[in-house]
Amino acid sequence: MAVDWKNYKPILIPRIPNLHKIEVYEKNGGYEQLKKTLKSLTPEKVVNEVKAANIRGRGGAGFNAGLKWSFMPKPDGGPRYIAANGDESEPGTFKDRKIFEYNPHLFIEGSIIAGFAMDITAVYVYIRGEYKSWIDMMQKAIDDAYAKGYLGKNILGSGFDLDMYVHSGAGAYICGEESSLMESLEGKRGYPRVKPPFPAQKGLWGRPTTINNIETLANVPLVIKNGAEWYTSIGAPTHPGPVLYGISGHVNRPGVYEYPTGMPIMDLINDVCGGMRGGKKVKAVIPGGSSTPPLRGDQLDGVCMDADSLRTAGSMMGTAGMIIMDEDTDMVEVLWRISHFYHHESCGQCTPCRDGTGFLEKTLIKIRNGEGEMRDLDLLLDLCTQMEGRTICALADAAAWPVRYTVTRFREDFEKRVKNTVFALA
Ligand code: NAI
Ligand code: SF4
Repeated sequence: MAVDWKNYKPILIPRIPNLHKIEVYEKNGGYEQLKKTLKSLTPEKVVNEVKAANIRGRGGAGFNAGLKWSFMPKPDGGPRYIAANGDESEPGTFKDRKIFEYNPHLFIEGSIIAGFAMDITAVYVYIRGEYKSWIDMMQKAIDDAYAKGYLGKNILGSGFDLDMYVHSGAGAYICGEESSLMESLEGKRGYPRVKPPFPAQKGLWGRPTTINNIETLANVPLVIKNGAEWYTSIGAPTHPGPVLYGISGHVNRPGVYEYPTGMPIMDLINDVCGGMRGGKKVKAVIPGGSSTPPLRGDQLDGVCMDADSLRTAGSMMGTAGMIIMDEDTDMVEVLWRISHFYHHESCGQCTPCRDGTGFLEKTLIKIRNGEGEMRDLDLLLDLCTQMEGRTICALADAAAWPVRYTVTRFREDFEKRVKNTVFALA
């Protein structure tokens, strides 16, 4: 059933002028949930409430954040960490920077509450290096939080200590993968680690670590304020809460929009984004960043932006970074561009990924240049099979899925190029 979104009022990024300033945030109830947590809640209570709220990770994997927190071992007096993932390098994804810009203290407050719940020593906020101005905004917000006693030693007289640092990435997509992000934070080359052990068992500098996306942590104060029951009443029941939809492509009003999960895709296109540019038809929608399988325009009726609805339709929610393409789009060009990206960003540790991404790109260039043969389409699908689930991290899957589903769902675009070649050569 579609959610009632027309009367929705943004809560992650409410329309309050200058909310990024700490005084304005405080005047609007900011840091009250931190005070409530430190005064009246236990770490177990916070973890259980967040788990019951079922905040599904907004970085792409959709894992229950509270469940992830519950994997952290019991405190042993040694250091423990949160790495807040603001790398957002997945093509089509550009929503965390809105939190840095418009409501950084909501994220900081959520991180401190998460820190209290898991007995954390330090939070590292990992932000992609290209986001220079957003890095500066976050640093300013963190400095202000220290100045007000929300960070540092003996926070608000509670006896709880927590530090927070901003760390800038250097432009490598792979450093958004959680284990590679930890390598990068440790000052090493960003090579993903084999899992298990998961970060809760062995994370930064070998110590227990939780990696959460920025938007995920920004949801935490909302749950502490209103409770898990309230949170799960927002949007789709099995994938609840507010979501920042980052919408790009051939719509009249692209941008980042906050609505509940479970939004019908066609409502987002027609009502929220003002329809397709030039009144064209929708040819394809990538729902959640370039690794999520594209859906055909004629497949979209009744499909909503939540994990269950998208799984049924044959895709995934990912980061809710939606790319909308019109009827004039050439899917061969789109797929080549995506494949070029993953080939360029593969770290090269695993053969199926290092060579597979290269073969995918080469084959697509061949098709694009009009030199493709029909059997190249089967070759592309076979390459995907050789890559999926056979590597250290998910980059190989992320590279294979768009190929598999673009070639099968938009086969006519590929056949046209291949057939044209045969015709031209004859
Ligand atoms: P995953 O599903 O393997 O893991 C999700 C989280 O749950 C991780 O933190 C993992 O450590 C934890 N986890 C899973 N099973 C566990 C277990 N048995 N015990 C303890 N912890 C466990 O997914 P992953 O590799 O973290 O992320 C892949 C997703 O990231 C993709 O779906 C893609 O959409 C997204 N992505 C997002 C990007 C962005 O820019 N935001 C960039 C690239 C990918
Ligand atoms: Fe590196 Fe690709 Fe292997 Fe991931 S799958 S570790 S990016 S080679």
